[in-house]
Amino acid sequence: MANPTKVPFLDLVTPHQELEAELLAVVKKSFSTAGFIGGPMVEDFEREFAAFCDAKFCVGVNSGTDALRFAFMASGVEEGDIIVTVPNTFIATTEAISQAGAKIAFVDINEQTYTLDPEKLREYLELRCEFNQTTGQLIERESKRRVVGIVPVHLYGQTADMDPILELASRYHLFVIEDACQAHGAEYFSKKENRWRRAGSMGHAAAFSVYPGKNLGACGEAGATTTNDEALAKRMKMIRDHGQAKKYYHDIEGYNGRLDSIQAGWLSVKLRHLAKWNESRRKLAHRYHELLAEVKESLVLPREASWTRGVYHLYVVRVQDREAFQAYLGEAGIGTGIHYPIPLHQQVAYKHLGYITGDFPVTERVAREIVSLPMFPQLTHDQQNQVVSKAKEFVGAKVVAAK
Ligand SMILES: Cc1ncc(COP(=O)(O)O)c(C=O)c1O
Repeated sequence: MANPTKVPFLDLVTPHQELEAELLAVVKKSFSTAGFIGGPMVEDFEREFAAFCDAKFCVGVNSGTDALRFAFMASGVEEGDIIVTVPNTFIATTEAISQAGAKIAFVDINEQTYTLDPEKLREYLELRCEFNQTTGQLIERESKRRVVGIVPVHLYGQTADMDPILELASRYHLFVIEDACQAHGAEYFSKKENRWRRAGSMGHAAAFSVYPGKNLGACGEAGATTTNDEALAKRMKMIRDHGQAKKYYHDIEGYNGRLDSIQAGWLSVKLRHLAKWNESRRKLAHRYHELLAEVKESLVLPREASWTRGVYHLYVVRVQDREAFQAYLGEAGIGTGIHYPIPLHQQVAYKHLGYITGDFPVTERVAREIVSLPMFPQLTHDQQNQVVSKAKEFVGAKVVAAK
């Protein structure tokens, strides 16, 4: 018989039990008004989440994928335009690009941070594209398509290196949409501005998923965009609501992408706990760093660049023989995950893009070794000790076997 799970990869039950009374009060409130879509609960959440992200506006939508898609559409993407992102992300990033009518171009990640490598981005923009001074457009030489935007993904809760990315974007007249779906509350120290900046406040717009397992999670599907640009916020609002600013007056074709009031109410309740939960994740991450330091030759630990304050959506280590490592921990009832096992350029869905193995060596190498350890705010030291002891045991066993 399989062992019962002793240390789940993620515990979503405990926080909901802890907040049960407040969450149920939201349901009662929504029943008393029967306003289930939009309305004051959505507007309250939008105001609170914008403030949390240090952004001027927030538009609640029904998933992180829609948040990305609506941000692209509102930014004026046209059929066949190119949007640049990384192959080491969840497929929703690129699905949203395609669904907005654009084409995907990948650049590799940095091996230390697992996020978009600004040098590789520079290489792509400078060597593979040509800037037309007259039109102010950047054209990819081979496809002759217009490059219009960049999507840095703040993966695992750490921001991408935004200063050089924003600088390149401004030089080539590109928009930057932050994929902040895993980074609610993450911070970036901008040398240019000499201040810490929040994920969701740096690009032209940002997309957040509030899928239940995220740092801020709804009790179902939901998402949000943030921006400092009022016109962009207005367009995203229209797009989420069938292209109408006024009921039955449709300026454009849009989508049914609105946020449910109950989800917004629940998100407002949870948002009040987010800073504390993020702090707990950071403490647990530092405890993992300390406890695993002696085996860091065999287990590559996450590195937090000096310019980022991560919120550890995931605690991702790298290990040779990852499948055996996962099986070893699994035998002891410890849950793990892989984010993500197959780089996007090697997925069947993207065969048509024509990329080949070897095109993004860092992503490919990392994808073979990464494994996510249990990480959630309520993880106890006792549970964490079990993870650490089994991880060390595995690595120790490997060392002995290798002699
Ligand atoms: C990096 C990234 N982008 C986009 C998404 C899409 O969000 P959703 O699942 O809410 O559509 C996710 C969520 O899984 C994600 O992790």
